[in-house]
Amino acid sequence: MYNALQYSHQLLKQQVHKNPQGLFIDGTLGNGHDSAFLLSLKDFTGSLIGFDIQEIAIQNSTKRIESLDHSTKASYKFILDSHDKVSEYIEDNLVQSAIFNLGYLPGGDHNVTTEFPSTFKAVQDILGNLAIHGQIILVIYSGHENGMTEKNNLFEKLEKFPQEKYQVLAYQFINQINHPPMLLVIERIK
Ligand SMILES: C[S@@+](CC[C@H](N)C(=O)[O-])C[C@H]1O[C@@H](n2cnc3c(N)ncnc32)[C@H](O)[C@@H]1O
Repeated sequence: MYNALQYSHQLLKQQVHKNPQGLFIDGTLGNGHDSAFLLSLKDFTGSLIGFDIQEIAIQNSTKRIESLDHSTKASYKFILDSHDKVSEYIEDNLVQSAIFNLGYLPGGDHNVTTEFPSTFKAVQDILGNLAIHGQIILVIYSGHENGMTEKNNLFEKLEKFPQEKYQVLAYQFINQINHPPMLLVIERIK
């Protein structure tokens, strides 16, 4: 079975396959692993916009992309800003998929972490422009207090999404210790 991170990448790959020229969002660049994964997909010829509120994350992600062994055919832009400003950057364009890897920057300041209000605002704004069968993928770490709060708040909101319009999937291992990462995936179906 895929772990949460591996599964999130499988979903991204399927989304690129569905619409190689689409617009993708990385809501939390961090060290750039998710963006690097997307940009290393050979059929991806669309565009990627990545956000982070820490300069170090922009630098680390840029370095990671520049060191990919083959050049990407997609265009990308990394923005030092909060993901809750996403609508200013996507304007009226349809979004094929977005990934949010929540929590704090590994190897960075653990006090700078994603927070439910801005995460949820970004999710809502992207939903307004999400392509049909597009997905928003949230990778959730609940092993720290803030992460648990964010997870609980997200569940509370997403459980109430109308099923005629959205499918919401929780992907998690229920017999593992220490709160392994899990996914919430929202797919627009109508
Ligand atoms: C778990 S890390 C992301 C890991 C990353 N996806 C990777 O592949 O390395 C979470 C990141 O979210 C960033 N972050 C926190 N609040 C944010 C916000 N409001 N907008 C954008 N990024 C934010 C943090 O600075 C941190 O770099």
